[in-house]
Amino acid sequence: MIHGKNLRLRAIEKNDLPHFVRWLNDPEVIAGLTIDWPLSLWQEEEWFAGLARRPLHERPLMIEVAQNDGWLPIGNLSLHGIDWKIRQAEVGIVIGEKSFWNRGYGGEALRLLIDHAFAELNLNRIFLRVYANNPRAIRAYEKIGFVHEGRLRQAHYANHRYHDVLIMSVLRSEWKQV
Ligand SMILES: CC(C)(COP(=O)(O)OP(=O)(O)OC[C@H]1O[C@@H](n2cnc3c(N)ncnc32)[C@H](O)[C@@H]1OP(=O)(O)O)[C@@H](O)C(=O)NCCC(=O)NCCS
Repeated sequence: MIHGKNLRLRAIEKNDLPHFVRWLNDPEVIAGLTIDWPLSLWQEEEWFAGLARRPLHERPLMIEVAQNDGWLPIGNLSLHGIDWKIRQAEVGIVIGEKSFWNRGYGGEALRLLIDHAFAELNLNRIFLRVYANNPRAIRAYEKIGFVHEGRLRQAHYANHRYHDVLIMSVLRSEWKQV
């Protein structure tokens, strides 16, 4: 497991799936994601079965926050599209428990994973895509050191209109260690 001050990142288990079904059927949670259709438990079970075929380092991790009586799952994050020649990966995150938004947990979880990606996986560049109409996410990424790199105009569509997609990245040479 990857341990931080308030959080830990651990592998996902099958009995975590009901959390995902709840989180990923919440319109507020998925507004920043690519999901635009209701998801059932069996679909999540199919997704989970497919994880075994994904490269180890691209399997998502559960974000858990320390509570008085143990660890509470609040979301997940993952690296994907790892390119071992360019030494880069894309990162994605969702905090599904909305009561934990705006408390620094998204930033802390990303910092833990990215620190691990630089320190242990020897990656050099981490980038992400974020919808321009997701100011919370943009702010969370800026706070931990992501810089704006580009804008894909009208590359997302939701709620009757097009939105731009921003590309942000952080390089290992710029990274402030956890
Ligand atoms: C995006 C997400 C991961 C961020 O995690 P988080 O724990 O809520 O973020 P943090 O607390 O680390 O940082 C959020 C920052 O945005 C700020 N913020 C919140 N709403 C804002 C708004 N409407 N405009 C500007 N800033 C805003 C917060 O105040 C905070 O900044 P501060 O610490 O300077 O006050 C989380 O909210 C989430 O999972 N949302 C739903 C799924 C999603 O959008 N995922 C990202 C896809 S790219």
